[in-house]
Amino acid sequence: MPRQQAAGARRPARVHPDVEEVLVSRRALARRVAELGRQITADYAGRELLLVGILRGAAVFVADLARAIDLPLRLDFVSAASYGAGTESSGDVRVEQDLREPVAGRHLLLVDTVLDTGLTLHVLDATLGARGPASLRSVVLLRKHRGTPPLHTADYVGFTVPDRFVVGYGLDYAQRYRNLPYVGVLRPSIYQPMGGLTVTKSIG
Ligand code: IMP
Ligand code: MG
Repeated sequence: MPRQQAAGARRPARVHPDVEEVLVSRRALARRVAELGRQITADYAGRELLLVGILRGAAVFVADLARAIDLPLRLDFVSAASYGAGTESSGDVRVEQDLREPVAGRHLLLVDTVLDTGLTLHVLDATLGARGPASLRSVVLLRKHRGTPPLHTADYVGFTVPDRFVVGYGLDYAQRYRNLPYVGVLRPSIYQPMGGLTVTKSIG
């Protein structure tokens, strides 16, 4: 017999052992996503939205955000790839998997997980903006607080967080941890096993 849980029962709050600290709890995420949904609903009243999640990370956020928006809405995805390795963006970002929906005349809202250097949004904004959308804005779950200003700003920001490597709620390290229901700081020992390696950032 498969193990079952009574409807409405709470799972015990357990933090993954690879997570040093929970930065944004499941509850805080739910509350802020609902707020963003209300704000977007009000700002786009009377219009139809084309909500575009940036794969793979934004899949989790966009699924929740879409359900918090009370407007006629289409959902699509795009994926971007960064060429070159290192801890910082290489400066060469390209669309890897394009939208299925046409963009011309649509109110497009790009959805991403983290605004760090701003390079991803900068490139997607230019690429998709060239296709003649009626409007083009962006929403990010997290904005990293870093010394240098980002190349691109987001129109809606969920949370501003310190410049630390985070996972969960769609965000990965080497494709893992995306399913954690909170945003947490990954223990450096996970990506610095020898003390000398640094995180190689890949988009999405
Ligand atoms: P940007 O192009 O420098 O703004 O980087 C944004 C992308 O880098 C995001 O879409 C994420 O996929 C990735 N990223 C940046 N910081 C983190 C992090 O702390 N954890 C996981 N992915 C990150
Ligand atoms: Mg990633």
